[in-house]
Amino acid sequence: MKELNVGMIGYGFMGRTHSNAFSQVNHFFDVPYQPVLKTLCARNAERARDFAARWGYERVETDWRRVVESPDIDLVDIASPNDTHAEIAIAAARAGKMVMCEKPLGRNAAESEAMVKAVESAGVRNMVWYNYRRVPAVMLAKQLIDEGRLGRIFHYRAKFLQDWTISSDLPQGGEGLWRLDAAVAGSGVTGDLLAHCIDTAMWLNGGIAEVTATTETFIKSRRHNLTGKVEPVGIDDASLFLARFGNGSLATFEATRYARGHKALYTLEINGENASIIWDLHDLHRLQYFDHRDESRLRGWRSIHITDSDHPYMKHWWVPGLQIGYEHTFIHQAADFLSAAAEGTNAAPTFRDALRTDYVTDAVLESAGNRSWVKVGPLEAK
Ligand SMILES: NC(=O)c1ccc[n+]([C@@H]2O[C@H](COP(=O)([O-])OP(=O)(O)OC[C@H]3O[C@@H](n4cnc5c(N)ncnc54)[C@H](O)[C@@H]3O)[C@@H](O)[C@H]2O)c1
Repeated sequence: MKELNVGMIGYGFMGRTHSNAFSQVNHFFDVPYQPVLKTLCARNAERARDFAARWGYERVETDWRRVVESPDIDLVDIASPNDTHAEIAIAAARAGKMVMCEKPLGRNAAESEAMVKAVESAGVRNMVWYNYRRVPAVMLAKQLIDEGRLGRIFHYRAKFLQDWTISSDLPQGGEGLWRLDAAVAGSGVTGDLLAHCIDTAMWLNGGIAEVTATTETFIKSRRHNLTGKVEPVGIDDASLFLARFGNGSLATFEATRYARGHKALYTLEINGENASIIWDLHDLHRLQYFDHRDESRLRGWRSIHITDSDHPYMKHWWVPGLQIGYEHTFIHQAADFLSAAAEGTNAAPTFRDALRTDYVTDAVLESAGNRSWVKVGPLEAK
């Protein structure tokens, strides 16, 4: 098996999920590469060394440029905040490295377009970690839709609800709170949470043609951790939009960090002519399915426990009845990336796929600003 040397940028939440994915993938999947945790990069050398020791990285760097320039690094994996994605990805592509990047791809579509151009002109393998596609229940939903079981789709409904920024004492910016700093994050829940909902939605139901949105920033100013001053808050705390898909179906999307009681409630529902599907991240190993063609006496919502070896990815795990969780979605994504890379292709979502999401989030923010319907991005994005 060929070794693939990984340079990981960032040791936070996603640095852990990705490191776990690369450590575990060969234990469960027959992939043609053996990822080697070669270099861990983060700005704090001491904490980077601790993380590297825990996960088995061979080297530590505090400047990502050293990782990108390293001749023995094959793959640069970007798990750092959004303002770092474009610069690192473009440099890595120019250096001929494979590039994996966390979502959202860029802080806006203009940044993402430059990233797409860089990986495509360098011809390097690339992927964005929209990991919810790799939840087995969501993958099963995709199979059911592609088999035509739902028939014509009328409605798509998605929500991503959290409650961690309600306190007005919470500062913005800096470690752990960069998501509240618009300069770093690009946007608030639109790019952070709705981006996930939009990626899944377009994968399941095709391109979004137009949107009309409203956003709100409930806490208008917060102390900035880096300047120590109270500064205006530039992110959207809540974002809601209506959408029309290219296939004629209608959608509602909602994301907020002000839904008291909800921690990471990502839900989606699809209503078709014949059948409907509901999925809920808090119960991620189940898919709710209603089929109107069932015998009327027995018709009702089925709650399918996605643990059978016939279910997507599940034959790689335990015996039927035993479920898997969040971290496995990243292992699935790493497996798909490595298999595709060995064949000289990309696993979806590629940078170009992720750019389509950024066209939608840009349109959402534009619509919220001018209170109108906005057509989404260039035609080729749909
Ligand atoms: N796929 C998902 O479900 C998901 C979930 C959470 C976060 N994310 C995305 O992952 C990325 C990271 O988010 P997180 O929650 O892991 O953040 P985090 O704050 O937990 O960790 C960020 C890491 O980046 C490092 N870092 C910051 N600037 C750096 C620089 N210039 N050079 C090197 N390292 C740097 C920090 O030291 C830290 O280790 C973001 O783009 C975020 O949107 C995706």
